[in-house]
Amino acid sequence: MNNFHFYSPTWFEFGKDAESKAGELVKRFGGGKVLIHYGGGSAVRSGLLARVKASLEAAGVGYVELGGVKPNPRSGLVYEGIELCRREQVDFILAVGGGSAIDSAKAIAAGAVYEGDFWDFYSGKRIEKALPVGTVLTISAAGSEGSPDSVITNENGMFKRGASGDAIRPRFSILNPALTQTLPPYQTACGVTDIMAHLYERYLTNTPEVEVTDRLIEALLLTMIHEAPRVIADPNNYEARANIMWAGMMAHNNACGVGRSQDWNSHNIEHELSALYDCAHGAGLAVTMPAVFTYVINHDVMRFAQVAVRVWGCQMDFVHPERTARAGIEALRAFLISIGMPKNFAELGAKEEDIPKLVDVLCNGDGRPGSISGFMTLNEEDCANIYRLML
Ligand code: NZQ
Ligand code: ZN
Repeated sequence: MNNFHFYSPTWFEFGKDAESKAGELVKRFGGGKVLIHYGGGSAVRSGLLARVKASLEAAGVGYVELGGVKPNPRSGLVYEGIELCRREQVDFILAVGGGSAIDSAKAIAAGAVYEGDFWDFYSGKRIEKALPVGTVLTISAAGSEGSPDSVITNENGMFKRGASGDAIRPRFSILNPALTQTLPPYQTACGVTDIMAHLYERYLTNTPEVEVTDRLIEALLLTMIHEAPRVIADPNNYEARANIMWAGMMAHNNACGVGRSQDWNSHNIEHELSALYDCAHGAGLAVTMPAVFTYVINHDVMRFAQVAVRVWGCQMDFVHPERTARAGIEALRAFLISIGMPKNFAELGAKEEDIPKLVDVLCNGDGRPGSISGFMTLNEEDCANIYRLML
């Protein structure tokens, strides 16, 4: 196991009606004037936003609001939010929504206290300082409620990049599984896929002897395989939603990624798809993961065979372990299709003729060195081959 440090100071308020604590929590973590940041309207329609405002008012906390965060959040609204925070002397940002609202809130939080262009953080500069952020989560997916990360699409070129720093880990996150019951089944399944991807991206490691994190990841994957079909069949299954919600947080706050190298090539390859076609991140990952895993299988056949046996219940073939490894990838693919995810470029709305453009932005955009690195280093030809496997 590698040396590591792990700092995860987020307060989690989990359960039914937890959003009624929003005002009290903002105050506890030092907020006096809040920017409420939310998405395209689901939180308004469900009445959640009104409940959050009532909670702030009851706690005597002032607020301004900025809605309109799109899935795959854009740089334009971040600039607007930064301006608003400065003008209104906001000292706390409360995101109400999913990964997109939370990531946009984190970007505003970092940009509001930075003199330069906030995009510097999305071009490699680490975030050391930010306004405090709290979240009220409405979809189990990105894990941004517990992560030190934010992903934004730059409208000047439509490419997607991430930024990191413990300063943007939420001070608190309100997790009420009942809030996810209004999600359409497709969005629920996209979230499940993203959570599974966060687990796989950590499972694919070059670090030996990481049994504890391997086993944690396997437990979370098994939970997703058990709970996802239940929640797709019955969107009001609170207990299944509760298990998925906590798994989603555990999958990405890095508790099961410490002390080991991680992959993230599937995410990088997917990010170009959701940036260009504006597809849901989870849907893009459903198409990307089986292609990437198939392409890199020989880098460590036994790792793929291990997850196949321990998670997917495949029989170990000691003579031909690659057969076991492949069976595990096929089981993943079949599972994702069974919960309603797309399986190829066409179903995603992606086009073969765009592959050169996707590869160029992926490998060379924003100062990248002609390749991406993770479990394996993949050059432009590798990435083009991987996109072709998705046709
Ligand atoms: O905008 P509204 O109207 O709220 O609608 C959203 C949106 O259309 C809807 N929705 C959310 N909660 C709902 C709901 N509809 C009905 N009822 C509810 N309770 O669902 C749609 C998707 O929301 P979004 O926030 O985009 O989903 P998600 O949480 O999957 O976030 C995706 C973004 O997170 C990034 C992705 O790249 C993508 O941009 N990621 C962020 C990470 C991080 N910060 O750590 C890591 C991830 O790997 C990921 O890259
Ligand atoms: Zn993700």
